[in-house]
Amino acid sequence: MWDLPVRRGARRQLAMAKEKSIYSCTECGATSPKWLGKCPGCGAWNTLVESVAETGARPRYAAGRGLLPAAAVATLAEIDATDAERQPTGIEEFDRALGGGIVAGGVVLIGGDPGIGKSTLLLQALDALARTMKVLYVTGEESGAQVALRSRRLGLGASPVRVLAEIQLEKILATLEVEQPAVAVIDSIQTVYSEALTSAPGSVAQVRECAAQLTRLAKASGITIILVGHVTKDGALAGPRVMEHIVDTVLYFEGDTHSSFRLVRAIKNRFGAVNEIGVFAMTEKGLKGVSNPSAIFLSTHGEPVPGSCVLVTLEGTRPMLVEVQALVDAGGPSPRRLSVGLERDRLAMMLAVLHRHAGIAALDQDVFVNAVGGVRISEPAADLAVMLAIQSSLRGKPLPRGFIAFGEVGLAGEVRPAPRGQERLREAAKLGFSIAIVPKANVPRGAAAKAFEGLTIHPVERIEEAIDLVRSL
Ligand code: TYD
Ligand code: MG
Repeated sequence: MWDLPVRRGARRQLAMAKEKSIYSCTECGATSPKWLGKCPGCGAWNTLVESVAETGARPRYAAGRGLLPAAAVATLAEIDATDAERQPTGIEEFDRALGGGIVAGGVVLIGGDPGIGKSTLLLQALDALARTMKVLYVTGEESGAQVALRSRRLGLGASPVRVLAEIQLEKILATLEVEQPAVAVIDSIQTVYSEALTSAPGSVAQVRECAAQLTRLAKASGITIILVGHVTKDGALAGPRVMEHIVDTVLYFEGDTHSSFRLVRAIKNRFGAVNEIGVFAMTEKGLKGVSNPSAIFLSTHGEPVPGSCVLVTLEGTRPMLVEVQALVDAGGPSPRRLSVGLERDRLAMMLAVLHRHAGIAALDQDVFVNAVGGVRISEPAADLAVMLAIQSSLRGKPLPRGFIAFGEVGLAGEVRPAPRGQERLREAAKLGFSIAIVPKANVPRGAAAKAFEGLTIHPVERIEEAIDLVRSL
């Protein structure tokens, strides 16, 4: 007789615990109660992803029930513009990529290939931070014992870093609220899952929901949260692009796992400059910062070889010399264009410009280009060096000893100036390079030219001029 209300209550509780999910389109935001291949709103294919349904009765994004009073509107002049205070992590190269250090309430996403050193770097950083503040390392990929073993290997014997081996989001959030660390690392976001969703950990919906919840907690509590993210085969962060939008800072780990050098590059930073990089070397005692990295991406040839050209690239605020290599070889009926560390679409464009404006045809040739040491170069100032390397390989003639080049090449064959050309030239002169081909606007004039003694600088305005020049050198 009396068991009926109890059972009804239990059923109601069950219904509340299981939040409903809906499917929303990543393109237009239209929603559907079930998954569809084609979005009913915009007609795009395969864009519906699962997310938690928002109910009107219990606002998910507001504390407590009902409407919160809106924040007061103010003029910019009235708002105190205090710069966010940065706490250095104690690892100089990591701080450089972060723009000076971590910020309270900031959320950092750090991505990179498996085995590149994300967990190692973060454990080292947490250990250094733990001397002055409370830190928590949440591991979903390894057990506590594995993390401890790694910390011993890194020589962090009596480390005060607190560790939680957990993958359920709600439990992680509860622990963070109880522990109140100043900094927490979630390694990795793809292993964390929320009870509210039915999809598997690592799915788009889970990653997005977990990242959003953790971000909300960081903003509300002032905890700095560092999320580790996996990358897909083509190098993008797995999970939705929205993850990059909700976090404050996005860092990428780059580098060739076969070489010991690793770069940490900031591609988004609400608290500092982007494209700033930190350079590390992987040793048996973990990652060590490289404070003077300008010459590490040069391979060592005794004699100049065809198809190789050194370029000065500017990574954040530091100029670095990187060797680009090209190999042009007779191809089959459909020649291949392959690039490692440089953009492939840009390579196709450069081959077209070489053909049209400098009369260098590689239409029936396989063309491979590579940036030495596993660096990724995205700046267009690499164009001139890549094109000179290609023509050098095609002719089988090396560029002169001590040669560098940089400059963007446009579709009309014009060579455009690179930003901060003098700094690049200064770095090349410092490292003993003797011949440079650079855009005309980058050539130092007057008194400034004296600083580059020993470096002969040839200005060029067009790609054909640059090609003629290297042939005569
Ligand atoms: P790890 O930090 O586990 O990579 P991720 O978290 O990005 O997947 O890096 C592991 C690699 O680093 C592994 O190949 C071994 C190497 N390593 C060293 O060379 N020295 C060390 O001191 C440590 C801890 C790892
Ligand atoms: Mg790891």
